[in-house]
Amino acid sequence: MSGPALEPEIRRVGRRLARAAGGGGLRARGEDRLMSWLSGRPELRAALFRTVDVAPACVSPDELAAHLIAFLPPGRLRSGLSRPLGRRAAGWLGGRAVAEMAGRFIIGESVSAAAPELGALWEQGIAVTVDLLGERTVTPAEAAAYARRCHDTLDALAVAAEAWAPRADAECDGAGALPRVNLSVKVTALTPLVRPHAPERGAEDARPLLRELLAHADRIGAHLHIDMESLDSRALVLELVLDLLAEPEFTDGPSAGIVLQAYLRDSGEVLDRVIAWAADPAAGGRRTVPLTVRLVKGAYWDHETILAAQHGWPVPVWSAQADSDRAFETLSARLIGAFPTLRTAIASHNLRSVAHAIACAEAAGLAPGDVEYQVLRGLGDDLGRALAAEGLRCRVYAPVGDVVAGMAYLVRRLLENTANDSFLSRRAGGTALGALLAPP
Ligand code: 2OP
Repeated sequence: MSGPALEPEIRRVGRRLARAAGGGGLRARGEDRLMSWLSGRPELRAALFRTVDVAPACVSPDELAAHLIAFLPPGRLRSGLSRPLGRRAAGWLGGRAVAEMAGRFIIGESVSAAAPELGALWEQGIAVTVDLLGERTVTPAEAAAYARRCHDTLDALAVAAEAWAPRADAECDGAGALPRVNLSVKVTALTPLVRPHAPERGAEDARPLLRELLAHADRIGAHLHIDMESLDSRALVLELVLDLLAEPEFTDGPSAGIVLQAYLRDSGEVLDRVIAWAADPAAGGRRTVPLTVRLVKGAYWDHETILAAQHGWPVPVWSAQADSDRAFETLSARLIGAFPTLRTAIASHNLRSVAHAIACAEAAGLAPGDVEYQVLRGLGDDLGRALAAEGLRCRVYAPVGDVVAGMAYLVRRLLENTANDSFLSRRAGGTALGALLAPP
């Protein structure tokens, strides 16, 4: 079943999830409204982002306020904040806002600090993938240090996970066992040699570090997920991962995954490549553990759009949100149809996209645990709980680290959620559920 025949079920599932997820706590609702309000004020939005970006380097609230005032466009707000009382208030509020935001999106400074929350999520039937904040290294020493942190984090997670009670719903699907320990890594943190015109240079540089992490994940029975970043590193990441996983050493493990970004116009061709790899007996076809594909819309939209405009290149991403949403649905259906050769993780906070995938999986005759649903910590917590309560398999993407390392991550979250056509800002802005669940 596909197309219009799925619509009644998509609406039913979407309404059920919306009811179960509720509207978030009072504070989260307030923050979401603020983001939605900012989406209509581009100059203020830009000033606030630039302030957030410099905040960790400011030594005092007064310095933070000076930056905010300098970034603001001339007008009443700027002159008000330039007065002594306004400046004090801006510095204090700015510092609080950055700390609040970091607390919302980052699960802890270290795995041991995050361990109680990881355990509490597991008890609710929600698994986690930990992301060590930090990306784009500039020296080999930084890359080696990131790899070491990933290695140690796998071990620390394995120790934390020993205390968790067995949960059949989170530990296997129709394709076999699912590791408790799950780490997401960024290849741009494993090599300073990311060059879009020479992807093989970065791939060769990152290869030994990534191979060691895969081997370690295999040794301790963990899952290693390789994130996708901006387009300039996609060829490097994709070919490196597919090539490494095809090595005989990795025939029986580890469980591993990659990411497909629906906002890229050519994501259908990337999926063709992955499906062909998974079927090739000389490549992925020799593996006994299915590759997981995490389907996302994509978090680098502004970056890709601005870069293409600066260079006069064709824009690689869909310009309208509805086009990305449609591509997401097409790719969801293809991925779900590829189970158990591939495992699918649907990573979205858009109720329509999620309800569509659930309805597709039901229509394809898959069991509820055969598809994973992923949400970001701080943005999709209510949706995650609602999915788990429905008996679906849910995983939270949980960044670990400090606010300085996390700045690029936090700014991506702000950019996404203050874009005026984003699902979360439309919902916070009061768009009716029926419209939110309509086909894109
Ligand atoms: C990011 O780092 C969640 O991987 C995604 O923005």
